[in-house]
Amino acid sequence: MKIAILPGDGIGIEIIREARLVLNALGENFEMEEAPVGGAGFAAKGHPLPPETLQLAKDADAILFGAVGDFQYDALPRELRPEQAILGLRKHLALFANLRPAICYQELTAASSLKPEIVSGLDILIVRELNGDVYFGSPKGIRTATDGLFPGSREGFDTMRYSEPEVERIGRVAFATAQKRQKRVCSVDKSNVLETSQLWREVMTRLGKEYPDVELTHMYVDNAAMQLVRAPKAFDVVVTGNLFGDILSDEAAMLTGSIGMLPSASLDMNNKGLYEPSHGSAPDIAGKNLANPLATILSTAMMLRYSLNLPEQANRIEKAVQTVLTAGYRTVDIYTTGCIKVGTQEMGKAVLKALN
Ligand code: IPM
Ligand code: MG
Repeated sequence: MKIAILPGDGIGIEIIREARLVLNALGENFEMEEAPVGGAGFAAKGHPLPPETLQLAKDADAILFGAVGDFQYDALPRELRPEQAILGLRKHLALFANLRPAICYQELTAASSLKPEIVSGLDILIVRELNGDVYFGSPKGIRTATDGLFPGSREGFDTMRYSEPEVERIGRVAFATAQKRQKRVCSVDKSNVLETSQLWREVMTRLGKEYPDVELTHMYVDNAAMQLVRAPKAFDVVVTGNLFGDILSDEAAMLTGSIGMLPSASLDMNNKGLYEPSHGSAPDIAGKNLANPLATILSTAMMLRYSLNLPEQANRIEKAVQTVLTAGYRTVDIYTTGCIKVGTQEMGKAVLKALN
């Protein structure tokens, strides 16, 4: 089994190092190959997603991705910015299904900014479409307006679009996943305003009839943003488009206490996937042994489960993470008084120890 390892920038390097140690400790025969991506890709090869890196990702059975982005690349033109690496990988590898679990560990309820009773026991899954929407819809650009309120002025424009098959395939992922959970899907859209969302809702409703064991509800995105902080436990699986999913998944992440805990999977039709922590490259704390490696370590567990078909190994890792949390180990992002404050490497070591 071949795993492409793309650490990227900032804390990506440190957290991937710990995740690799965990993978090595499983005693499986993984072939791991590393390549630069993001700012590191630009620095090494002049492009955030160098062709060699893309090829490695294509040839691998799964991809473990750190994070991209650093202050020094902020001034680059958009097509060379580090973010293009992850967008390019999603597009080129047709990774259309983004699974973002938001789980609140009992030990970390105090770290959430919400009241403990609201988040305690929280276990929701955001299924975000990843290949369409305004992210990739054409036409897009910046031009001189010929109509509208201010003709003759510069205007920026993007296109929100979703075809029926695109909605259907992400819908199927959501329904099938819900069948293995609490059997509830909430489809989030803005169908009171957007045509794209009207079609989205139509397709989801039709699809829902094929999954009679799953309860389907619909919610406007503004209301969903509100309900997520009012009563998040009312959700099981949330399925939504690329843009709404981007926003709602950050919001959901914060319910759990720290975005430093959340893994994610981006899958294609055949369950080949890219696995990454939900958080970014945090250049402000990079290289200081402060970053929480648990989201990345938990991402390796998702990788073992979804792409490499090693569910027992996935369970082992998740159990080990639970063990270190119960033992009181905390990186600074999840630290509360009375716990044992540790750095990135110490946290990684604690997981390794719990694994055995
Ligand atoms: C995410 C990120 C990306 C996105 C950025 C880095 C392009 O915010 O994975 O949620 O908007 O999808
Ligand atoms: Mg985001």
